[in-house]
Amino acid sequence: MPEQIEICVLAAGVGSRMKSDKPKVLQTLAGRPLLDHLLATIRELEPDAVHVVIGQGADQVQAAFSSHADIHWVHQRERLGTGHAVQQAAPHLQDDSRTLILLGDAPLISTQTLDGLLQSTADLTVLTVEMDDPFNYGRIIREADQLVAIIEEKDASPAQRLIREINTGVMCVRTRLLKDCLSKLTNDNAQGEYLLTDIVQLANQSGASVSAHKSHDPVEVTGINTFAQLAALERQVQKNIVKELMDAGVQIMDPARCDVRGKLTAGRGVFIDINVIFEGEVILGDNVSIGPNCVIKDCSIGSGTVVKANSVLEGAQVADNCSVGPFARLRPGADLAEGVGIGNFVEVKKSTLGKGAKASHLAYLGDATIGAGVNIGAGTITCNYDGVNKWQTEIGEGVFVGSNTSLVAPVKIGAGATIGAGSTITREVDPDVLAVGRAKQITISNWQRPFKKKD
Ligand code: UD1
Ligand code: CA
Repeated sequence: MPEQIEICVLAAGVGSRMKSDKPKVLQTLAGRPLLDHLLATIRELEPDAVHVVIGQGADQVQAAFSSHADIHWVHQRERLGTGHAVQQAAPHLQDDSRTLILLGDAPLISTQTLDGLLQSTADLTVLTVEMDDPFNYGRIIREADQLVAIIEEKDASPAQRLIREINTGVMCVRTRLLKDCLSKLTNDNAQGEYLLTDIVQLANQSGASVSAHKSHDPVEVTGINTFAQLAALERQVQKNIVKELMDAGVQIMDPARCDVRGKLTAGRGVFIDINVIFEGEVILGDNVSIGPNCVIKDCSIGSGTVVKANSVLEGAQVADNCSVGPFARLRPGADLAEGVGIGNFVEVKKSTLGKGAKASHLAYLGDATIGAGVNIGAGTITCNYDGVNKWQTEIGEGVFVGSNTSLVAPVKIGAGATIGAGSTITREVDPDVLAVGRAKQITISNWQRPFKKKD
């Protein structure tokens, strides 16, 4: 039977250096919790077991990952150090397996790097990297090929602090050896904690082979302790995502001003102007053009559609050759058929618009079914809410709704009907008629305007 690989993720930290109550692994990077990045990588390794050590905010972490049935959650009641965290998981680890230890706050580690680490035949192998600025990381002390110790910043001498090879926190160790070393840990150090890094010296003392496996990418092993580090890593990740999109043929006006917080899939000939944020899952068809300052979340946008400046789209389905914006708002359930035009200051929610329908200015369309070729005049409102319930508005094909019309739902307008401007429509309108629901205009002759009173 091949050797079993168990993974132990240390994620009990509260992010004290972020001064935040939120568990650190729930902070987001490119729109996803740190732990989510790590779990995606772990899944590719197909380990035999995954243990995640959680502490303060454990309920929140477990709730955020409740769909991951394969995770074994381990509770670290007191936060006494990284060594103490692994001690909590130890009773659940199989003696004859190998344990791969990962840090929840270093989310970008790649499968390739971990595969490389797992190739090591040593009893204990630590993943290391050279950092230009090694401040705050544990320093690697070598003697020939053997890794003899990891010294934490606070315990390091001035000479040791000059060492640029650091502990990434990732290590792979034979579980029997790990358990033996963990049982010997003390908290006799500058931090007064049980430091996982001390197992390096302990393993050496027991005669085990201990080696360092060097990664060449400092970014993938960066640990996140502060919001400044999180922001720096976010920039780095965004740079990579945007570069990938550009390499695939997407024209991005300014790579530093495009953020993808989720997954963006784009066809050929797509253009993205500055300050655009994509969230969740967004699909752009061929030749889609996105104007500046748009926020687009969980949408699919068809080929040839143009989204103009300052539009906010969420949960919308937009078909081919539509025009949206500037200043349009599409909310969840907005479903636009081919060639639909949504202009400035138009809000659409849970409504379908048929082929070629237009709402070019200042309108609210909620809970409505709007047929093909309909023209919605400026200032039209579907009055869908009576203060308690939401009601539907149905507008048949080819209807012309005059400006400043209130459609009081539930209401139906038959195909081909015309609604006079300024109408308040409360009753069903038959097809092909003209409906006008407004006060009749009257004329008062000899009208005298009021004049200013003299004192
Ligand atoms: C740790 C390493 C350091 C390494 C650095 C890499 C130790 C003692 N130090 O330092 O050598 O260079 O990572 O980023 O291991 N955690 C728990 N329970 C605890 C303490 C920590 O689960 O009681 C978790 C944290 O949530 C975090 C991880 O372990 O995900 C690392 O802890 P952190 O306090 O950030 O260690 P560093 O000081 O960064
Ligand atoms: Ca850290």
